[in-house]
Parts: sequence; structure tokens; C-alpha cells
Amino acid sequence: MAEEIVQLSDTFWNIRGDLRMGGVFNVGTQCSLVKVGEGRFVFLDSYTLKGEIRERIMALTDQGRSVEAVLNVHPFHTLHCAQMAKDFPSATFYGSSRHAQQVPDVDWAADLVESDAVAARYPQLSFSMPDGIDYICADESVHAGSLLVYHAESGALHVDDTFNVLPLPNALRKVLPLPEIALHPKLKDALLDTPDAGARFCDWAERIASDWSGTRTLCAAHSALSKFGEGEFSEALRAAIKRARPKLSKARS
Ligand SMILES: [Fe+2]
Repeated sequence: MAEEIVQLSDTFWNIRGDLRMGGVFNVGTQCSLVKVGEGRFVFLDSYTLKGEIRERIMALTDQGRSVEAVLNVHPFHTLHCAQMAKDFPSATFYGSSRHAQQVPDVDWAADLVESDAVAARYPQLSFSMPDGIDYICADESVHAGSLLVYHAESGALHVDDTFNVLPLPNALRKVLPLPEIALHPKLKDALLDTPDAGARFCDWAERIASDWSGTRTLCAAHSALSKFGEGEFSEALRAAIKRARPKLSKARS
């Protein structure tokens, strides 16, 4: 895994970043750049841009001046927000309530990233908050919740943590029956304290499989991109939910 910029369409770029656990094992992270109009760009998530990737982004965005907003969609992905605010000083920074607490130096917008006001501002994007789990878990080690963003024009689904893609070579995938989509390993710990929480999460994920069936690329923060042919994303997500439903439904009943 190395830092990389992946162009998915004329209007969507996914930037693969490094995130080293304990300074060693690279679990990866991401941000995406979306062109939302002529000379208008937004980022999904923050990442410290360096070298050739930075040069390319700056060239695309009139040296950053065309970046009008940064939508930080994961409450626990806060490491790069301060640098991003320095790199794109004219952008409006949206985040969760946790972003404002953790990175108070950034001039956060009053509207939260998950608000209807932000969704209305960007009709080019669709947003969904998982049902049945905490968005901001009191247990700081549980990062399963996040705001998912779908860009229908490019078929890109940007998701941090809630869904993961294991970074395995395609050759290995062809010979081993490995799942295309994995749920966050601590998802069970994020369930709301109600008996139907697991079922509600699974029902929500099945709605995503239907509503965003046009997904052609799943951009998962940890830690890979996964490409899908027609119908394959829905099939893979439904398979993941089918495996998880019995365990999640039992978790709080
Ligand atoms: Fe994460």
C-alpha cells in the first residue's frame, strides 16, 4: 500500500493515504475530491497532501481556491483536519460535534456534516447514517459509525470504517472464497442498547444495497478500493449482512 490518487471519473478522485498503527502496520486511510460544479470542488475527509498528489490536486483546484468545503464524515478521523484547514483556508469545514471538540483550532461550520442543511447544499451527493449503531461511540476504541457518501454520477461510495475492504490481491481473491465487503470488526460493540439494534443495522445495510446498487467502486478507508460490475455490490453487501445478521441480532437481545 502506498499513497496514491485514483481517478474514478471526470468528477471523482479517491486519495489513498497512509495510517500506521503504532507507527508500523499501515491500515491506510483516505479522502476523496469531488467536482460539484464548474470550478467547484469538495473534499470528503481530510488528509495531509504531499508531493505529486498534492501538486495534482492543486492543479485541479486552482491551487486550492476552488475547494469550497471539506466534509469530514467520520467522527474519529481527525488527525489531518488541522493541516487540511491550513492547506485550504478558503474552504468551509464541516464535521461532527467530535471534530470541533478534538480539533478546536479549525473554524468549524455551525451546520454539522450529518445535517440536512449540508445534504441540501450538495444534491450531487447522497448521504446515509447507519441505523442501530452509535455514530459517536462513548467507547473511544469503537469507530464503526460514520456518515456514508454516495456519488451516483461516478458510482463511487465513500465509506470510512462501517464497511471495510480487505486489501488482498485479485489473484488471491480468485482462488479463495473471501468476502468482498467486511463489516467493521467492532460493529457489535457500537450497537445501540435496544433489542432491535442489530436488526435495524442489518435492515439499513440492505436498504443501502438496494438504494445505491449503482455502486461501481467502494472506497473504504481501511483499506482498499473494491470494483464491482453491475449488481455485484448489492450482492456482496447482502452476503455480508446475511453472515452478520444472526450474530448482531443476538448481541443485545
Ligand atoms: Fe477509521
